[in-house]
Amino acid sequence: MSEESREFSGVAAEAVPEDLDVENSLRPRNLREFIGQPRVREQLELVLEGARRRGDPPDHILLSGPPGLGKTSLSMIVAAEMGASIRLTSGPALERAGDLAAMLSNLLPGDVLFIDEIHRIARPAEEMLYLAMEDFRVDVVVGKGPGATSIPLDIAPFTLVGATTRAGALTGPLRDRFGFTAHMEFYEPHELERVLTRAATILDVDLKADGAEEIAGRSRGTPRIANRLLRRVRDFAEVRADGTVNRAVARDALAVYDVDELGLDRLDRAVLGALVRTFGGGPVGVSTLAVAVGEEPGTVEEVCEPYLVRAGMLARTPRGRVATPAAWAHLGLRPPEESTGPQGLF
Ligand SMILES: Nc1ncnc2c1ncn2[C@@H]1O[C@H](COP(=O)(O)OP(=O)(O)OP(=O)(O)O)[C@@H](O)[C@H]1O
Ligand SMILES: [Mg+2]
Repeated sequence: MSEESREFSGVAAEAVPEDLDVENSLRPRNLREFIGQPRVREQLELVLEGARRRGDPPDHILLSGPPGLGKTSLSMIVAAEMGASIRLTSGPALERAGDLAAMLSNLLPGDVLFIDEIHRIARPAEEMLYLAMEDFRVDVVVGKGPGATSIPLDIAPFTLVGATTRAGALTGPLRDRFGFTAHMEFYEPHELERVLTRAATILDVDLKADGAEEIAGRSRGTPRIANRLLRRVRDFAEVRADGTVNRAVARDALAVYDVDELGLDRLDRAVLGALVRTFGGGPVGVSTLAVAVGEEPGTVEEVCEPYLVRAGMLARTPRGRVATPAAWAHLGLRPPEESTGPQGLF
């Protein structure tokens, strides 16, 4: 993602270093503090309570969903609710199976092992995980070549919590070894208002209800974005106003940061603008569209499009990207008569 288009990392859902600093202080600590995701919360409560009653570690848990929705927070909550310790690692960090073997053999009974971005785990480590998840055992290979032997090693019963933004990229055998998969959904605006109110209390920001509502509506259903916009609005409120965040202050602040009423930022609007003005609403291929806005196709596809699709502005069709009537309307334009959006294509 280019620095130019997202200089304050605006509404990108991925964490930036500044987020990581404050996120720990803003993380909900237990299931009751965890806002929203009612289905996931109910399911997880049952999984954990069942395990508690049996006195066993809970089944392995897969958390799947877009960035910034609370997967890492939930994994920590699983450990906290079970009174267990958590070890954190990530798929890309487990390049060699030996790294994973070391982590697994150091686990104490009941520990939670959190593997972030588990879809990016290397193949040998993944295969070691199969046995560990199923039988609480690893096979450690000693030596090389024909003389190599494999020594089975028992490990403590543990709970693996895997997180992924791309559940589809997981192999079948790995997916099947999770006893429970939580599908995280985007948050409703009223849930984000509660996230914001809670964060404002922790960060000591004077946030009014209408200010929370305004920020929530522009946060793309994502708590991480809500919390980040809150910090930017706070800066504005402290420098240009009296520190209070109400609707008017939030609006003025977010205008400065180029975040519009729907949470679209400059790059999103550039993509929509090119689609509508340059390509007459499409269909157009994603690479052509990316060139038109001077971005990598990957950025357009993975960063802009999911939200534009979800907001009902853009449709992905076999022939290319198409602007919906809502996109024209959002840019203050009228769709031409013959192309009233993608309906004709379905
Ligand atoms: N349900 C929630 N209630 C309150 N705050 C939340 C909730 N979910 C997430 N947050 C806030 O959003 C921030 C990001 O959450 P978290 O790091 O858990 O997301 P993630 O899904 O792991 O993201 P990534 O995919 O980028 O790793 C946290 O710091 C936390 O403050
Ligand atoms: Mg995370």
